[in-house]
Amino acid sequence: MADETQETTNPSNEEPAKTLVRSPLRGELSRRSFFSTLAFGWATFAAASAGLLGAAGRFMFPNVLFEPPQEFKAGFPSEFAMGVDERFKATYGCWIVREPTGFFCLSTVCTHLGCTPNWLTADEKFKCPCHGSGFIMTGINIEGPAPRPLERYRIVLAEDGQILVDKNTKYQQEKGQWELDGSYLEYA
Ligand code: FES
Repeated sequence: MADETQETTNPSNEEPAKTLVRSPLRGELSRRSFFSTLAFGWATFAAASAGLLGAAGRFMFPNVLFEPPQEFKAGFPSEFAMGVDERFKATYGCWIVREPTGFFCLSTVCTHLGCTPNWLTADEKFKCPCHGSGFIMTGINIEGPAPRPLERYRIVLAEDGQILVDKNTKYQQEKGQWELDGSYLEYA
């Protein structure tokens, strides 16, 4: 490393006097090196802290999947015409079906591999576009590979007289659950 020198004016002599500055010995840090090392250390520390803060933020505010509520009011019974009501298919994944004697609520999940069937008014059946399973209005499977009927959700009347659907409770026909309270809402 070259010696660092500093020129100063010597009043008694024309030639400028040179003041020798001691070079750092081996193993010693120059002032410049010291501050460079310090700055690098701080930068590393700041980067590590930012990373930790980011990780902590992800922990405190994780990704959340917002799903529609599992329970909802569908309106008053008198607002439903006979047949399949498709108003809740897209938002809640169910059909509300009105018969002369009452209501039931069908899941829109095909019992084969989970596709969403379509209600075909002219044919009066649900038809799955994936592998051709068909279900009559009650939800019973009649064709295709679906091994069992569509599932039903709990349906009751709320205190205010509206239809209340609770998707937390399901009823499977093949298990005899369509006979249970809540699987069918009697309403004449
Ligand atoms: S998923 Fe519906 S028939 Fe296969």
